[in-house]
Amino acid sequence: MDRYVVFGNPVGHSKSPMIHKLFAEQTGQSLDYSTLLAPLDDFSGCATAFFQEGRGANVTVPFKEDAYRLANSLTARAQRAGAVNTLSKLADGSLLGDNTDGAGLVRDLTVNAGFSLTGKRILLLGAGGAVRGALEPLLAEKPASVIIANRTVEKAEWLAELFCDLGPVSASGFDWLQEPVDVIINATSASLTGDVPPIAPSLIESGKTLCYDMMYGKEPTAFCRWASEHGAAVSMDGLGMLAEQAGEAFFLWRAVRPDTAPVLQELRRQLGL
Ligand code: ATR
Repeated sequence: MDRYVVFGNPVGHSKSPMIHKLFAEQTGQSLDYSTLLAPLDDFSGCATAFFQEGRGANVTVPFKEDAYRLANSLTARAQRAGAVNTLSKLADGSLLGDNTDGAGLVRDLTVNAGFSLTGKRILLLGAGGAVRGALEPLLAEKPASVIIANRTVEKAEWLAELFCDLGPVSASGFDWLQEPVDVIINATSASLTGDVPPIAPSLIESGKTLCYDMMYGKEPTAFCRWASEHGAAVSMDGLGMLAEQAGEAFFLWRAVRPDTAPVLQELRRQLGL
């Protein structure tokens, strides 16, 4: 049976095996998908051993940059992201590195939520790996503007510079902004501690602005609560992005696109959401 894994450390909590098992059942694909705890100091050795037999892998924290270096070739979006979350063994035995995180975000917004990003003003909060992974797919939707706001403004400036050839992208501090935007995407890790980045509520246009938190949890995240309290038209958590990035990886490996809707429903049921 074709073998797939998700590499991480820690990795026991990963929902990827459950998601891919559901995709495989739904599409009638015969495959085995499990977690693989890689040692912190030897991702490369562990991945190379796995790929003697294995067909593909997802890669999670803290190995996405190691996977980027290990891949023999990269998709354009992985190249831009500087990180790989999906490895696929090609017919010649070489490893293709892809990054499906940003595409997963865009699919969750445009397909699941039915929200077109074209011509929209998008505010991204944060300037870490999650934002870097999202920028190419977001800019491909031809928004009117993308502002990257970060606590450490220099990091936002660096990212804006790195992606400015792909569209209208600029950098900002959190408290420099007042005018409403159409979409606010929280990609900071502030939610982990229940914090909300210090941005002005006036950035939300009541009943119009869509707010998205890349995090998710049993309860609505602090950012989602903040967004709802200030009149956001929609506030979404990142569970859909999780399902969609998995769907993109499955599509890359098996050339079959799974229906993510029932899988997302099952995920929410299991999380008690
Ligand atoms: P990831 O790979 O998930 O993007 P990361 O690269 O560690 O993670 O980036 C975390 C992001 O969250 C950064 O933009 C960080 O801001 P700094 O660049 O200034 O460190 C941001 N962040 C973390 N905690 C935060 C908080 N309490 N308030 C606002 N931003 C926060």
